[in-house]
Amino acid sequence: MFSGITERLHGESNDLYRLRDELKKQGLPIQDFISGNINDQGYLFPQDLLEEILVRGLRQCRVYHPDSFGQKFAREAVSEYYRENGLTINTDRILITPGSSLSYWYCFKLLADEGDEILCPCPSYPLFDYIALLSGVKLIPYRLDEARNWSVDADQLEACVSTRTRALVVISPHNPTGHVASAEEIAAIADISRRHDLAIISDEVFSEFLIGRESLPRPAGSDAPLVFTLNGFSKMLALPGIKFGWMAVSGESDRVRKALRSLEFISDTFLPVNEIIQASAPEIFKYGRSVSIDFAKRIRDCWKVAERILASNRQVQFVRPDGGFYVTLRLKNLDEEWAAETILRENHVLLHPGYFYDMAPNHLILSFVQQIETIREFLPKLLETLERQMRQSSAPE
Ligand SMILES: Cc1ncc(COP(=O)(O)O)c(C=O)c1O
Repeated sequence: MFSGITERLHGESNDLYRLRDELKKQGLPIQDFISGNINDQGYLFPQDLLEEILVRGLRQCRVYHPDSFGQKFAREAVSEYYRENGLTINTDRILITPGSSLSYWYCFKLLADEGDEILCPCPSYPLFDYIALLSGVKLIPYRLDEARNWSVDADQLEACVSTRTRALVVISPHNPTGHVASAEEIAAIADISRRHDLAIISDEVFSEFLIGRESLPRPAGSDAPLVFTLNGFSKMLALPGIKFGWMAVSGESDRVRKALRSLEFISDTFLPVNEIIQASAPEIFKYGRSVSIDFAKRIRDCWKVAERILASNRQVQFVRPDGGFYVTLRLKNLDEEWAAETILRENHVLLHPGYFYDMAPNHLILSFVQQIETIREFLPKLLETLERQMRQSSAPE
């Protein structure tokens, strides 16, 4: 009765989350040091302002007149956002979606047939596996190099290209390594995409959250033949439930035209974006600018505190993130799964072992997007737990 895909659509149960649920059942509060939904950490778009904007949006769209690309005023607002960031992407090259996850699915369907390949960075947030499964494409991992601050190794990336490769995914700032691709890396990736005729899918959902960088180099500013730039309100404005995202299409005009023609059909089949949200988008952008600047500052402040605490510890190494919400910790001779479970049991802090992201062994991932007091209270405790475990595991028998 069911499709082959259905048989493969089941999450693997894992011990860490079973333990978390058990501790929660016992009434213990668990500090979440991993969730990408920063609403839980107290980062919230101002409620009164959002209510006013949504009411005005509602009034604007009592009669339903959908546009397959998304309403023009919403696309104009996205185009304006890029203009303010130094990039010209015309309104008619923007497609509104309910978020980057669905934008990925559109891109995969647009670019690849069953069995075609898409190159994805590894390690990575496990977002694409099910999207690839649902769309029948094969993901080929290309490695980010921890020894070089998790940067892209262009030679290794190029070695992954085959006759079935259709596109490559760039995530910058990257989740979870925090790497921001430099202008040189973007140029090298664009060069590969041009020589092998590949589209670039550029995931920029953490674009507003840079640390120690002034600006974000973007594939859309390169001479790659076809670039889909993905972003949305989910991270930018801590509005994941609003479900407003977009893809901006740039590159050679005939390719862009062809992509947009097909995207119009894909999007028209579903017309998935709420009209009230589309009507509200220009004002959310307008008033949201200061909100995202404030979030970005708070997040940089969090990182400063976390960095000081991490740097005072000699057992755990970390790569300083250039952006995003996460930092990767490298442990000396300690099993990461055991470490994550012990921290959860003893400190009541949830973080992830690196293998959740296909990272080499002995890593933990944590989010520093917290309240500063929470970092001050919990980070030293969990480092102490790690140090103790490492001392024990390296002590002579
Ligand atoms: C790198 C990355 N891209 C995309 C997404 C999903 O974005 P959206 O909420 O817009 O679907 C996430 C979610 O955490 C993410 O980490």
